[in-house]
Amino acid sequence: MTPESHSMTGTDDPLLGPPPGCPAHGLGPGGLHRLYGPDAADLESLYENLRDQHGPVAPVLLHDDVPIWVVLGHAENLHMVSAPSLFCRDSRIWNPLLEGMVKPDHPLMPHIAWQPICSHAEGDEHLRLRAAVTGAMSTIDHRGVRGQINRYTQRLVNRFCEEGTADLVSQFAEHLPMAVMCEILGMPDEYNDRIVEAARDLIRGTETAIASNAYLMDVLMRLTARRRAQPEEDFTSHLINHPARLTDDEVGQHLRVVLIAAYESTANLIANVLRMVLTDPRFRAQLSGGQMTVPEAVEQSLWDEPPLSNVLGYFAKQDTELGGQRIRKGDGLLLGIAPGNVDPRVRPDLSANMQGNRSHLAFGGGPHECPGQDVGRAIADTGIDALLMRLPDVQLDCDEDELEWRQSMASRHLVELPVHFAPKPPQDVTQKPSHAPVLPQRATWHVGTSQPQPTPTPAAPAPQPAAPPQYPAPTTPEPARPMGAWQRFLRWWRGY
Ligand code: HEM
Repeated sequence: MTPESHSMTGTDDPLLGPPPGCPAHGLGPGGLHRLYGPDAADLESLYENLRDQHGPVAPVLLHDDVPIWVVLGHAENLHMVSAPSLFCRDSRIWNPLLEGMVKPDHPLMPHIAWQPICSHAEGDEHLRLRAAVTGAMSTIDHRGVRGQINRYTQRLVNRFCEEGTADLVSQFAEHLPMAVMCEILGMPDEYNDRIVEAARDLIRGTETAIASNAYLMDVLMRLTARRRAQPEEDFTSHLINHPARLTDDEVGQHLRVVLIAAYESTANLIANVLRMVLTDPRFRAQLSGGQMTVPEAVEQSLWDEPPLSNVLGYFAKQDTELGGQRIRKGDGLLLGIAPGNVDPRVRPDLSANMQGNRSHLAFGGGPHECPGQDVGRAIADTGIDALLMRLPDVQLDCDEDELEWRQSMASRHLVELPVHFAPKPPQDVTQKPSHAPVLPQRATWHVGTSQPQPTPTPAAPAPQPAAPPQYPAPTTPEPARPMGAWQRFLRWWRGY
């Protein structure tokens, strides 16, 4: 437990270091662990050390040694997000900010700086802004979106299918969510490599992030002006015309929030699930045995590798207690999604299957709970299913332990996911994704259904002939036998 004297308000002397020879050397002021730099090279182990040392809520340091609590317990995270009278997302009450400890050039400033958007708003203002966002989301035609996900997957796979190799992070996972979100927002023509690049820039905070933000805002403000003048049946028009009467500026800012929130998290989710499907024998066996659907693999991944690891932040509105720690008014807290999901009190055995259990923290909770989770799940489920239909013989092109990860306090994501497969001709994007005309090498992969599939006729193995691609390529004929209820459900679910 933290000694009572420790203050998360920054009033303890932050320069006080451990005496010479103390084993706490290498730690930050007050003997606290840093969630950045060399101390944080292995955050999973660090969280477990912190859990042992402090219990479910631990004091840590952000960049520039700014103090904050990280909430490690599953129950404590849920309590925090569900108690708006005690904790809010308005950083303007955060003591280190008020006391000048957080400088304007702090690397986390884009997450910290308060903006008039639903993620930072509270009370009635949050209700107003959030109602407009969820109202516009409720108009999304999920069946139509699944059709778009299939079409964009076809297009993306067409870009590399003749090569026989691909990087599924940069050539698939980072593109599909952006393509689908541009379509949902009502700007399908704006989807291109440039907008994906801009979103990537913003999240990584590279030198060109400011220019990329300006580019993105210009695109979104022009879309807002067009739809204000002439509404259509899309998310942006419904956002504008919601009774909450958002100003043009509010519309533009919320389009940006939705686009970026959807892009980063869904791209990470797709890459994580694909890696799991390609490498984890549990999933391969279960998928091929017809026990596990892609949506179930997605849910397991949301437990094991949540697309966002922590959310900065929540702020105490009054003195309170959380997980045995005394939290003072104005203290900051990190919503610890990754550590909360592996809390031994809810998951004593991490290898146990979480099938059917959606109580993970991947989408947060309480009044700010992610309103786009169904869209994120649909993009991942349908996109991965469609990709595996096109490339049933896809295999990892390196050893699993050669895969490189980029880790920060906010997320842990794959740098690349190199794969190989037998080269295939492009398919007509309006057709349902299928693996014809190339028959799978791994004939036992029947992804996304719990029904045993007919065994494909043995085919001559790859490599494929260098014949010119056919347009449109033939698709797999539907089975002639009547469909069972489960298959009919799956077809409806996938939007066919
Ligand atoms: C798998 C993908 C996704 C994950 C893991 C995810 C995760 C999250 C998390 C952790 C939060 C913060 C919750 C909190 O503070 O308690 C959040 C908020 C939000 N997400 Fe998502 N998200 C995903 C996809 C999406 C999509 C596709 C959209 C839009 C279509 C979206 C829109 C938003 C918005 C607008 C907020 C702010 C809500 C508020 O503060 O009231 N997200 N998301």
